[in-house]
Amino acid sequence: MEEKKPIIELKNIVKTYDDKIILKNINLSINQGEFITLLGPSGSGKTTILRLIAGFEWATRGEILFKGLDIKDLPPHMRDVSTIFQDYALFPHLSVENNIKYGLRLKRIPLPKSSIKPNVFAKQKSLQKKWAKQALEATKKLDKIQIEYESDLKNKKISKKKRNKLQNWLDDLDFKYASWEVWPSLMNEKFEKRYLTRKITNAEMNKIVQEVIELVNLKGHEKKSIDMLSGGQKQRVALARSLVIEPSVLLLDEPLSALDAKIREQMQIFLSSIQKKLGITFIFVTHDREEALRLSNRIAIVREGVIEQYGTSKEIYDYPKNKWVANFIGDANILEGEIIDQEEEIILLLGKKMKYWTKYKFNNNELVDVLIRPEDIVIKKSSGLIKGQVETITYEGSYYLITIKTKNKTFLAESSSEYEIGEKVYISWTVTAMHLMEKEK
Ligand SMILES: Nc1ncnc2c1ncn2[C@@H]1O[C@H](COP(=O)(O)OP(=O)(O)OP(=O)(O)O)[C@@H](O)[C@H]1O
Ligand SMILES: [Mg+2]
Repeated sequence: MEEKKPIIELKNIVKTYDDKIILKNINLSINQGEFITLLGPSGSGKTTILRLIAGFEWATRGEILFKGLDIKDLPPHMRDVSTIFQDYALFPHLSVENNIKYGLRLKRIPLPKSSIKPNVFAKQKSLQKKWAKQALEATKKLDKIQIEYESDLKNKKISKKKRNKLQNWLDDLDFKYASWEVWPSLMNEKFEKRYLTRKITNAEMNKIVQEVIELVNLKGHEKKSIDMLSGGQKQRVALARSLVIEPSVLLLDEPLSALDAKIREQMQIFLSSIQKKLGITFIFVTHDREEALRLSNRIAIVREGVIEQYGTSKEIYDYPKNKWVANFIGDANILEGEIIDQEEEIILLLGKKMKYWTKYKFNNNELVDVLIRPEDIVIKKSSGLIKGQVETITYEGSYYLITIKTKNKTFLAESSSEYEIGEKVYISWTVTAMHLMEKEK
């Protein structure tokens, strides 16, 4: 198997706005070429995470690594990352073509090596050394001052004012280090822009725009203004505008939420195929659980500024970490159980002793939440584990969603057979249908 390398890593990221903590301690590692979804309720911090990665927002604490390098202090345009916003942010009065060209406005083309005088490369090399040295010296100086200030702070005699000043300086130390870390590459970019690249010509621009228009199936619509397009077409223009700069990472903030169901599904398939074709890493935000399950290699469940769980669609759906995730990712029956004998794997559930199986460790007498998905509930007319009565039935297109009232609890079940409201039935499930979860503390 090919080795998976992280392209983006968030380490202990904290974000506050006016003393309000928005992101608490985010750790997230995203591999090259992955399709990652951030899924969570409104206000949980999904957009904020994207904005930090894109560079539109500063982290209060923590590190953001791009291929191992701290990019926290790099401006957005140097991050090799492109963003599609929820409202597309297209220019309504401009044509499709010109909207896409806008994405290329900053693009520069490398000059052919043969046209550059050798002394320019020599100069670049010597400057690179100089910048690296400067950064190293500045970092060493920071090390020294840090030690000095920390020891000063231990001195009880220093004034409160001085103490605050030293403390503030130390609090900002992360930033100081990070800005020196990226300084050589910032300077190098400036140099390359000035001496090693040139502006893109109109002809070149047109060629790239044509290619990307074909890629997103908008041929024939080039001259139309944005106002004249359907939602799905606008979405594809936004996608094209982000793709022209050939980013390594594409950030997509609820790009499909404005589309109606049918077009939305088509766009899901389209996005997924483009992602595979180009091998770009996608970080996708949605609060639609089915969309997340369908599209993602891995899903990060975001809850109140925390990554509650990070795993494949299957892991999150079948083995949610707790009751909250279980309910958030799909329909769920959740029962409270008590472990009676963890050696023999026996649980007390709805007053009955039952066998369970789990790969996790629980203690005797521990209370747990037990998940059983509706599709794992078996309904029978004659016999089963628990007696109940059909309460409601809704037809979901290919199956019926049925609620069954039992003595202790109302269950949700899926079935392809028809039942009648009020009908007496039995429900059962197998040992492997039960997933045991720790109680939330
Ligand atoms: N510039 C800002 N100043 C102050 N608070 C902010 C700012 N931006 C976001 N917030 C707050 O941060 C929290 C997280 O917001 P964010 O936009 O990241 O949530 P979200 O998960 O994207 O929600 P939604 O699904 O509604 O888009 C919210 O409580 C929001 O009010
Ligand atoms: Mg948002």
